[in-house]
Amino acid sequence: MKVSVIGCGYLGAVHAASMAEMGHEVVGVDVDERKVAALREAKAPFYEPGFEELLARTLATGRLRFSTDIADASGSVLHFVCVGTPQKRGEYAADMHFVEAAVESLLQVLTPGDLVVGKSTVPVGTAAQLADMVAEKVPGALLVWNPEFLREGFAVQDTLHPDRLVYGLPEGPDGEVAERMLDEVYAPIVARGTPKVTTDYATAEMVKTAANSFLATKISFINAMAELCEATGADVKLLADAIGYDDRIGRKFLNAGLGFGGGCLPKDIRAFMARAGELGADQALTFLREVDNINMRRRIRMVELAREVCDGSLLGKRVAVLGAAFKPDSDDIRDSPALNVAAQLQLQGAVVRVTDPAAVDNSRRQWPQLDYADTAEEAAERADAVLVLTEWTQYRELDPVAFGKVVAQKRVLDGRNALDREAWTAAGWTYRALGRRSG
Ligand code: UDX
Repeated sequence: MKVSVIGCGYLGAVHAASMAEMGHEVVGVDVDERKVAALREAKAPFYEPGFEELLARTLATGRLRFSTDIADASGSVLHFVCVGTPQKRGEYAADMHFVEAAVESLLQVLTPGDLVVGKSTVPVGTAAQLADMVAEKVPGALLVWNPEFLREGFAVQDTLHPDRLVYGLPEGPDGEVAERMLDEVYAPIVARGTPKVTTDYATAEMVKTAANSFLATKISFINAMAELCEATGADVKLLADAIGYDDRIGRKFLNAGLGFGGGCLPKDIRAFMARAGELGADQALTFLREVDNINMRRRIRMVELAREVCDGSLLGKRVAVLGAAFKPDSDDIRDSPALNVAAQLQLQGAVVRVTDPAAVDNSRRQWPQLDYADTAEEAAERADAVLVLTEWTQYRELDPVAFGKVVAQKRVLDGRNALDREAWTAAGWTYRALGRRSG
């Protein structure tokens, strides 16, 4: 099939290459010239394991190209909308202007029989509005909502092998036509028997925000338990293991620590609350405000813990921060808990050095006031405390004996409950973590 992908960020670029991998003829369109130039040369504009290989392979087939000109999307029959919906400045609501601009630009190239496929995370009610716009301007063209659930760090795997397909379809025969077109574009995924949910627009939109709200709630639940563990001397890691054996609960997303960040969970729960308010149903989601509060409190607690181990004052203390990305295997620093903590430590007078295997360049641009190092050893040189704030494998596997020779004081704060407490304490380190007793 001939398809276009509008927006070539994490979602769109990976989606475009994955569609080409499945045999389709794909044009990825983005207004950012630098991004398009990089993608054309098989360079990923972000860190994503496996993506550059996929990009190089699919570009070489000739089935994938990138453009800054929406006119290049004409001739495609499916048009995926993959632009971002960031949080509005100073508000909870999502900023919809990229989605609106993408659909408006598509109206110039759509022809009857084309299908617009929304993949962005949007406030419930958006698809119905956009469908009216499309129907009015290009009668015979249809719109579906088909949310995407990819995780950064696993974007290629999640796109090529999703755990479910969700189709939000128009009513009646139009819905059947649209479903057939989606089944055709996702043929290899459908053929594997991947679960498929066909539904209306509103349910499809809500599946995405409900899923992300549930994940955020699960993380904040275990972090609330961590607060209690700190008050009682209990151990949140063992608690999570023990409750996670109940398969109704499950162990995944019960890792207590510094909490969630990134470009999705924080802004999605806030946008969901804002939308519920507009719909007069804000009471249904007041618990998400608490989920957000618990999450933000972990960052404050981390700074307190650092002050505690530094004998009650951070003034002039040398602190190494290992990790800047919001999670490992990513260079994404959007709403990064690690950088937020690093900045707070600096404000309290600490001499902070941050390092990260992939996110230092992005961090330098956005947080120029912080000091950066290339390696963990360099960051930790003569440090009074070392904070592990993103659980990269490199940091999990640090040798506490060798690493102990670099620092001034062997004090480690495990912000992600990722280190082997026994090994670090055996090597003479004072070990502190969120929700666990010190070693
Ligand atoms: C998330 C959803 O998982 C994905 O389905 C959706 O499409 C986009 O949003 P992503 O933001 O890439 O994906 O990251 P995810 O792996 O969900 O992690 C989010 C944050 O939660 C990270 O900061 C991570 O460190 C934190 N987290 C995750 C925890 O603190 N504890 C956990 O147990 C799991």
